[in-house]
Amino acid sequence: MHVHRQERIWMTFGLAMLVIFLAVITTAAVVDGFVPPSHVQSIDPTKVAQTPPFDHPGLRKVADGAYEAYYVARIFSFTPASIEVPVGSRVTFYVTSADVEHGFSIPETGVNTMVTPGWVSQVSHTFKERGTFLLVCNEYCGSGHHMMAAKVEVK
Ligand code: CUA
Repeated sequence: MHVHRQERIWMTFGLAMLVIFLAVITTAAVVDGFVPPSHVQSIDPTKVAQTPPFDHPGLRKVADGAYEAYYVARIFSFTPASIEVPVGSRVTFYVTSADVEHGFSIPETGVNTMVTPGWVSQVSHTFKERGTFLLVCNEYCGSGHHMMAAKVEVK
């Protein structure tokens, strides 16, 4: 079979790109420990209200300046609706859904994850500035999607 020279160049280019992308993804996963946010833990989505710690969602202080925040997302709200932490705090968010796919995003921070029923999403952020941060659902989840929000007060 004869393959035209220019076609061969393009095939080589395409193959090289594929190899480069795979190398980048593998390096990020193995060396930097990048993983999808939902890998942490699974949960029975029909028993969220009975499963600790999601039976009592809210903020827990784990050390000075370190908090864990457990959230349940359901149409069309987040529980807790509001948390308050001191400025400089590192907060690790654990979020699960009691019904459908939601989003969990605090704009202008690194906090942005999908919330998939059956999984616990985990994301951390250090709040270095005071203010009221809006926490929004950024995954279309139904007619009240645009009203699904909560807030993080940093004092
Ligand atoms: Cu929940 Cu959109």
